[in-house]
Amino acid sequence: MACRICYSVLVTGSNRGIGFELVRQLVDSPLGPVKIFAGCRDPNGPRAQELQELAQKHQDVITVVQLDIGCPASITEASKLVEAKVQDKGLNLIINNAGVNIPGSLADTGKSTMVDVYTTNVVGPMIVAKDFRPLLCKAAAQFSHQTSMSCKRSAIINVSTLLSSITMCHENFSQAPMYPYRVSKAALNMLTRCLAEDLKNDGILVMALHPGWVQTEMGGSEAPLTAAESVRGMLGVITNLTEKDTGTLLDWKGNSIPW
Ligand SMILES: NC(=O)c1ccc[n+]([C@@H]2O[C@H](COP(=O)([O-])OP(=O)(O)OC[C@H]3O[C@@H](n4cnc5c(N)ncnc54)[C@H](OP(=O)(O)O)[C@@H]3O)[C@@H](O)[C@H]2O)c1
Repeated sequence: MACRICYSVLVTGSNRGIGFELVRQLVDSPLGPVKIFAGCRDPNGPRAQELQELAQKHQDVITVVQLDIGCPASITEASKLVEAKVQDKGLNLIINNAGVNIPGSLADTGKSTMVDVYTTNVVGPMIVAKDFRPLLCKAAAQFSHQTSMSCKRSAIINVSTLLSSITMCHENFSQAPMYPYRVSKAALNMLTRCLAEDLKNDGILVMALHPGWVQTEMGGSEAPLTAAESVRGMLGVITNLTEKDTGTLLDWKGNSIPW
């Protein structure tokens, strides 16, 4: 018998793009989570309207959570809200999807752009992991009779990119000479490896996932993949992750990407 992807999930940056599509497909799936926490930095703003409508339709499943990953106090508040909802069950899965790309060549990029992009793409997921760790541990402990890892048990998925790959940089740099984005996502990959080592004994799986080049505000209209296609693939990969995948960088089809 097929079983649920997991009991509970938090998706950051879920008001548009890939994050919104993740929430949409998860709530539509008969094997989707019982509780979906949809993180969004401005839940009452115009950019969250579609998410609010979806949450209204699925009030028993979706909770919209104010979560600005650039603001540590907001992350801490979000973790308290989630804790109050999941209680002793803990939180099974975090998809660190929120991210920014401020394109910049060497000539165009200064300190503030580098720091701003790093704050969102690296510091945010790090603080999320730190503040939500007790909830992930609680969820993992429910499966203590098993030693194996999975998203059903407890996991962090960091949404990375092909452009983070140091090995592949020589092949694709000229098409996307984006200093802040590439450097920050390479750092996110290292964060992923560090967390995978650190949280291994807690039974928490940590990996990085490239969604493909996707038609969103960030990806642009020339991208070959729709958000729906990308997310279908991502969820297929996420569902099938096991212990051997912790600390890896995979794409939306499950192929390994070299660091
Ligand atoms: N699209 C692609 O081709 C592609 C390729 C590789 C990797 N990715 C990665 O996939 C993820 C999603 O990208 P996307 O294409 O869906 O981008 P997008 O359409 O630009 O959406 C980005 C999302 O992140 C949120 N966000 C940004 N800063 C935030 C903050 N400080 N706090 C909370 N939320 C914040 C945005 O919320 P607001 O509406 O509040 O700004 C929005 O919901 C990113 O991590 C990106 O790097 C995308």
